Amino acid sequence: MSNVVILGAQWGDEGKGKIVDLFADRFDLIVRYQGGHNAGHTVLVGNRKYILKLIPSGILHAGKTSVIGNGLVVDPAALIQEMETLEQSGIPVRERLAISNRAHIIFPFHRLLEKLTEDRPGRVSIGTTSRGIGPAYEDKIGRRGVRMADLLDREFLAGYLRVLCEDKLTLARAFGLEETLDFATLLAEYSAYAERLRPMVCDTAALVNRALRDGKRVLFEGAQGTMLDVDHGTYPFVTSSSSAAGGVCTGAGVPPTRIHGVVGISKAYITRVGSGPFPTEDFGPLGDRIRNVGREFGSVTGRPRRCGWFDVPLLRYTAMVNGFDSMVITKLDVLDGLESIPVCVAYRMGGGTLDAMPATVRELARVEPVFVQLPGWKQPSSGVSRYDELPAEARAYLEFLERETGVEAGCVSTGAERNLTIVRPGSKFESLMGARA
Ligand code: GDP
Ligand code: IMO
Ligand code: MG
Repeated sequence: MSNVVILGAQWGDEGKGKIVDLFADRFDLIVRYQGGHNAGHTVLVGNRKYILKLIPSGILHAGKTSVIGNGLVVDPAALIQEMETLEQSGIPVRERLAISNRAHIIFPFHRLLEKLTEDRPGRVSIGTTSRGIGPAYEDKIGRRGVRMADLLDREFLAGYLRVLCEDKLTLARAFGLEETLDFATLLAEYSAYAERLRPMVCDTAALVNRALRDGKRVLFEGAQGTMLDVDHGTYPFVTSSSSAAGGVCTGAGVPPTRIHGVVGISKAYITRVGSGPFPTEDFGPLGDRIRNVGREFGSVTGRPRRCGWFDVPLLRYTAMVNGFDSMVITKLDVLDGLESIPVCVAYRMGGGTLDAMPATVRELARVEPVFVQLPGWKQPSSGVSRYDELPAEARAYLEFLERETGVEAGCVSTGAERNLTIVRPGSKFESLMGARA
């Protein structure tokens, strides 16, 4: 029984939510291993739209356990709000959700500190989601963070939190931010959150490993994308967690030997939100067209996403870092009707071709993408349920991406709805995901 990781192969928003939701019924547990409510995973079911941020995209399915792993940073207010929104739609979240006692907590002072680093004159702004994600991870790595288990320990929390608050205020003032923080109100607020979350908090690594021992199937859901991974992405224009496949082991407490496959989700083109180099970005009318047709506006912040063309060197790199067994190519329909479609097949710099992803954003900003033009297709790709019924040029496009990246396109998505998805018969993807339970 395969346990599979599904994660972003680009800079996020590849359509992970749709794919995780669609295949969740073949697994028993759906586990998030990193990130926080910087993620926005959209799931469309009929005419209902759900935007999941902290809660795994498996939550809509009865009989499945959704897990917020230890690798996440949790803003309790955001989590409770997300739970309530889902509950109003009739989803019994409390019956289906487990939250790690080792996950770290985001406080309002984390957002304050983020503002300080993002807005300060002279600092390079990352263009973050302003959710306090980075500063919360800084406290985690700095060994002064508050974890879910600490939040539930009322006696410990009061003293510990006071010192942490004082530290942050001192820092803010040193940098000229005259903010105040009412400690008593904060403590009361967070103690109330703790009581609401307490019934769902447990040792999720033990829960997941028990399930694995019992022969249950686990699907790991990545947030963000590999190019936003703190180690492997376009540092410093990255998020503060390990979104690549390696993050699963640390962020869920699962041994690497229990993971059987990794699936990379990639758009048929590429987008990025926030700052940082983007070799295939299209600033012209075609870029605008992709943004409008693909509705490329952030699901968390509403910011317009920067749009560009499929980047083979980038995909080869993220395939290497993650060991993709298969790719899901999403949003193929967004390319319908284009005369021709550019694909970047190589990076050139200083007269030569690069054979590795540059380590610095200075170098990446200087690469010249080498484009080839592939023929577009006139007939819509959307609504087709068999691979061989896709327009011939669309199949040729997908097969070109497979050849160039060395990874099969085992599944193709041609619309936001669940039914607009094609699984390639005989693909590794089909065998990894297994039969419908
Ligand atoms: P995630 O963060 O990776 O889960 O992706 P987002 O949900 O942030 O962004 C993907 C957007 O594309 C969402 O609005 C989805 O509903 C939508 N979407 C997913 N797959 C497809 C597809 O194949 N075609 C189209 N047109 N939209 C899609
Ligand atoms: P999903 O899971 C796209 C980007 C932000 C910013 C950088 C750092 O929906 O694919 P952060 O707030 O994490 O410190 O911001 O990362 N970013 C995302 N971009 N999709 C996401 O999540 C993202 N989460 C963070 O725009 O550039
Ligand atoms: Mg998203």
